[in-house]
Amino acid sequence: MAMNRGLPATFSADLEHPLRWGVIGTGSIAHTVMSDLLLVPDAEMVAVCSRSADRGAAFAGGLDLPRGARRPTVAVFERLADMLPEIDVLYVATPHGVHHEAVIPALESGTAVLAEKALTVHYRQAQTMVDAARSNGAFLMEAIWTRFNPLHVRLRELVAQGVLGEIRSVSDDFSFRFPYDPGHRLYDPALGGGGLLDLGPYPVSFIQSLLGDPDSVDVAGSLAANRVDDSATLMFRYADGITGVGTCSMRAEGPNTACVVGTLGRVEIEANALRPTRMTLYRDDLEPEELTTSIEGSGYVPQLREVQSRVRAGDIESPVMPHRDSLSIMRILTGALSALGVHHP
Ligand SMILES: NC(=O)c1ccc[n+]([C@@H]2O[C@H](COP(=O)([O-])OP(=O)(O)OC[C@H]3O[C@@H](n4cnc5c(N)ncnc54)[C@H](OP(=O)(O)O)[C@@H]3O)[C@@H](O)[C@H]2O)c1
Repeated sequence: MAMNRGLPATFSADLEHPLRWGVIGTGSIAHTVMSDLLLVPDAEMVAVCSRSADRGAAFAGGLDLPRGARRPTVAVFERLADMLPEIDVLYVATPHGVHHEAVIPALESGTAVLAEKALTVHYRQAQTMVDAARSNGAFLMEAIWTRFNPLHVRLRELVAQGVLGEIRSVSDDFSFRFPYDPGHRLYDPALGGGGLLDLGPYPVSFIQSLLGDPDSVDVAGSLAANRVDDSATLMFRYADGITGVGTCSMRAEGPNTACVVGTLGRVEIEANALRPTRMTLYRDDLEPEELTTSIEGSGYVPQLREVQSRVRAGDIESPVMPHRDSLSIMRILTGALSALGVHHP
């Protein structure tokens, strides 16, 4: 893992104040994740950046802050640069088609960045972000929060310990019906709309985290009326017939399940594979074993804690969601989009 060598003054292991967070974007995920931030010790929500001062103020005013806590200050998008010196970490919660507009200036100022998935809309842009993190010694992580869910962590441990034997196949689905609406960001090509960039990062990350980078990926999918992708199935191919199958769709409600099959056993996540509270371990000749967990806040707390500890340690990436995995995910998504005839700039 790369370490931060040229630490800006605000980034040091002996930082004495709580880490100061700012958010850009005041939409649905910004509200959910910043509400979870209030559950993280040693973190403070200090600034909001919006394209509109009114929306920024409404967002800041709507947070359920602890009694006596200072309300976050509000900056309009054009004044993002003024906000950056006031914060240690920027959470980028704008549509992925415009993530780079905030991520690049933040990294160039040495500010740590937690950027929503998809990191961006094209592999090349993702590489530019990673280069900016490395050359400025600033922390960057894509917000694949699923990797920090305690059952996902436990599943990776079971695989690493060989409990399932050799992994032969991994499958994961994230699909929900979102009727065609060309006015919504999910269908807006200018904002990076489409199922692969919005839903696809989760199954792709899940398979990649367990099987590594595939030798090749086949894709089948469909396009909406405005030629934004609205469903896709990706088959990851590995040596010796090992496969991963990831599905994502905005056209139909899917099972939202995951399954990891090895030569000695399998794990099934029977529901809500993004945020599971239960999974079952099946092993030859043994009773099925149920593994459970509880969810902190809305499920984003463990990812936020990871950012806190990495930034405090002066790291520029997380070993759980490292730059190379974000690049791998973006390479797969870019290739799948291209195969479906969808091209983001
Ligand atoms: N981790 C998760 O579970 C999760 C869940 C949903 C979405 N996401 C990701 O989070 C990001 C935002 O998704 P969301 O569902 O929160 O979207 P959203 O509700 O549409 O909110 C996005 C916000 O970004 C700001 N924005 C800046 N430039 C914009 C532009 N050109 N057009 C539209 N909005 C712009 C807007 O805030 P202002 O008007 O205040 O500028 C808007 O409210 C996406 O990358 C998405 O993939 C993650």
